[in-house]
Amino acid sequence: RAVAILKELEEKCGTPSSKLKQVADAMTVEMHAGLASDGGSKLKMLISYVDNLPTGDEKGLFYALDLGGTNFRVIRVQLGGKDGRVVKQEFEEVSIPPELMTGSSDDLFDYIASALAKFVATESDSLHVSPGRQRELGFTFSFPVKQTSISSGTLMKWTKGFSVEDTVGEDVVAELTKAMERVGLDIRVAALVNDTVGTLAGGRYNNPDVVAAVILGTGTNAAYVERAHAIPKWHGLLPKSGEMVINMEWGNFQSSHLPLTEYDQELDAGSLNPGEQIFEKMISGMYLGEIVRRVLCKMAEQAEIFGDIVPPKLKTPFILRTPHMSAMHHDTSPDLKVVAAKLKDILEISNTSLKLRKLIVELCDIVATRGARLSAAGTVGILKKLGRDTAKDGEKQRSVVALDGGLYEHYTKFRTCMENTLRELLGEEVSGNISVEHSNDGSGIGAALLAASHSQYIEAEE
Ligand code: BG6
Ligand code: GLC
Repeated sequence: RAVAILKELEEKCGTPSSKLKQVADAMTVEMHAGLASDGGSKLKMLISYVDNLPTGDEKGLFYALDLGGTNFRVIRVQLGGKDGRVVKQEFEEVSIPPELMTGSSDDLFDYIASALAKFVATESDSLHVSPGRQRELGFTFSFPVKQTSISSGTLMKWTKGFSVEDTVGEDVVAELTKAMERVGLDIRVAALVNDTVGTLAGGRYNNPDVVAAVILGTGTNAAYVERAHAIPKWHGLLPKSGEMVINMEWGNFQSSHLPLTEYDQELDAGSLNPGEQIFEKMISGMYLGEIVRRVLCKMAEQAEIFGDIVPPKLKTPFILRTPHMSAMHHDTSPDLKVVAAKLKDILEISNTSLKLRKLIVELCDIVATRGARLSAAGTVGILKKLGRDTAKDGEKQRSVVALDGGLYEHYTKFRTCMENTLRELLGEEVSGNISVEHSNDGSGIGAALLAASHSQYIEAEE
């Protein structure tokens, strides 16, 4: 009976190349629609106001704040200027107390501002701003924001585990600035960026062939460099570069080609944001372990895999996290000790048979494979939109996609599957010109770089 449930899941989660190509095509179609008008698609295709990516000339000491991943980070970067690189970098990581993720806006921003104030206080002689200058910072805020300029924008909705109602519709830079004032910090927010945009900027700084960035972490999303001419909904001045970075918010992508199952539907219905972020809920780190838990629950109820009761812990939403799933999935011991240990430590289930543990590994494989293959299909959708998915005669056009996020970084089988699927979909000839690069914490440095290129002092120096 349990095997039947697994087989049915495997069939429903199937992602043959043909299906992934339909997903990639649908992604390209939705990208066009989202660029045509606001509300034209589930893909918001947000204008980032970043029309110039880092050049290497950025100079000075800048701060960055990174909110929205697993950890909240404060960063201080000394940029060298003229072909200089990052001279020195320091950071501190703090986790956001869970109650602040669903509390009030002031409490959340006060917490962030206090952490920043503590960090600023540790500024040393070797790393400090020039006398008389106001400190400036790049704010990486990894949620959908309707930007009104490079340094302002209103929160459209929360995603992932956050739900702080009174921030929605507010300018998040104003919220942060007010909180900084409350703790006595005088810092100017010079750039507000999504983590994908930060990662793209950080990636480009290191490699001029970077054309897009994808985050596979708690959530998932992508940003890429679009020609300003190809953005009908942009009514502003045409940027000198002719380019504009677009934050796709692809987590909200939807298509009839997505292999959705009853477990996805139930997960969505019980989530903080039902009906939204459907692509994200099939792919990202916040949800993969939860999908596995839901399937195990059904197996416990209908096939009594854990005996005649459903283990109480197994009924707790989000108790089985993606890192646990990853550990079980990568278990290579002959008797699957890691699987046994996770079941015991997390779900308080003991005495499982080896056969059952093997079935659980297979379950992890099905769920991770679907997510990894869908993220590859999404990436191909972007390359298609850019016309970089086919080999051009005699032309060697290199394209690099910068990747970051805990899921990509730590879940080896997910990462390998994603990269292999990219090659499978693009074919050998094209995939030789396309590569994926891990841009470790590129978004923090990226935000600092963008703060530097939008510094209030920049014109005075030129
Ligand atoms: C980090 C980036 O490395 O990855 C963040 O610096 C990003 O900006 C994060 O939000 C996403 O990964 P996770 O797993 O922390 O959600
Ligand atoms: C969620 C957010 C998005 C972010 C992504 C990755 O999808 O809405 O803005 O880029 O997570 O962190």
